[in-house]
Amino acid sequence: MEDHREPDDGSEHEQVLLEAVIRQIPVGLIVVGPGGTPLAVNDEARRIFGDPQMAVRDRPLTRALAFGDTVSAERIEVDRRGGAKLLVEVSATPVRDESGEIVAAVATFHDLTQRDEHERAQRDFITNAAHELQSPLAAIVSASDVLQAGAKETADRDLFLGHIEREAGRLTHLVRSMLTLARAQTGREAPRAEVVEVEPLLREVASDLRPAQEVTIEVSCPPSLAVLGNADLVHHAVENLGRNAAKFTSRGTIKLEGRPLDGSVEIVVTDTGPGIPRELRPRVFERFYQGAAGEGFGLGLSIVQSIADAIGGELSLDDADEGTVIRLRLPAAASLVME
Ligand SMILES: Nc1ncnc2c1ncn2[C@@H]1O[C@H](COP(=O)(O)OP(=O)(O)OP(=O)(O)O)[C@@H](O)[C@H]1O
Ligand SMILES: [Mg+2]
Repeated sequence: MEDHREPDDGSEHEQVLLEAVIRQIPVGLIVVGPGGTPLAVNDEARRIFGDPQMAVRDRPLTRALAFGDTVSAERIEVDRRGGAKLLVEVSATPVRDESGEIVAAVATFHDLTQRDEHERAQRDFITNAAHELQSPLAAIVSASDVLQAGAKETADRDLFLGHIEREAGRLTHLVRSMLTLARAQTGREAPRAEVVEVEPLLREVASDLRPAQEVTIEVSCPPSLAVLGNADLVHHAVENLGRNAAKFTSRGTIKLEGRPLDGSVEIVVTDTGPGIPRELRPRVFERFYQGAAGEGFGLGLSIVQSIADAIGGELSLDDADEGTVIRLRLPAAASLVME
């Protein structure tokens, strides 16, 4: 295309440069004239607000324009379509002419949402890691204590070495799963999706559970059933559900079931324990929420919820009258389900 600009026209060049700067600076920028009409809105501001009018209404920009306030680094929440919220830091200032009259206002917007999410994910990671790693570590320490105290029979030694090996294996899985979850939560990397066969997974989780003596564990699942998800994360989630069932159930049965459901797969963990009181059910997925005083941190279910979110699953608690029934719905691995 032909360029009609005069090469030596300095002011036009400046104007073009200024427009490019406004458009491309990595912060949102809006200039409004009298009455709140947007005079300049850059791409980042559009991304944050969608409609620039949203930035003007009831916001620091209006205060700058109407009252001459200078607003420095004020945090606001921006509601996005679809229910998401952004955390945004706004600075705004009036622009005056020579006589001191306010003729415009300018505001900058920093989207802090991602930084906020990163910080939260980092804090969660540390808490989750400490929470998850403690039980296998405790098992390793106690098995090696027994060995050191002198398990003389070869059979005993093998038993405790077996414990150590199994728990160390679990640690490896857990660490991998925690890291995968942390990467997913910071939006850095989606968990690698794999075809995970459900029946062997349920059997493995079942064999690692240590329920009360009078509790039996049942596994039922069609052999061909498979989900599409990250193997470590799916395992970690089901293990947490199974551990709750084992912890709270003193007699009866714990069932781990897998079944196809409307094109997806449902993993259902049922127990005959005391159940979760109805009024507490809406809160059990919150971090650190615990029902009746018991050991634990109230983190297990919130971790399962985060895993479900990270792999496109859904976690729900049945409205059961007795015991606890909790469902984890996951995307089916189509090829295996069709078999
Ligand atoms: N199978 C269950 N039977 C009865 N109550 C349960 C069951 N699963 C969860 N709960 C209730 O939900 C609460 C939250 O569960 P969650 O797994 O998040 O924490 P926790 O098991 O108490 O501790 P943590 O998992 O951190 O060791 C529990 O404290 C308990 O009151
Ligand atoms: Mg738990």
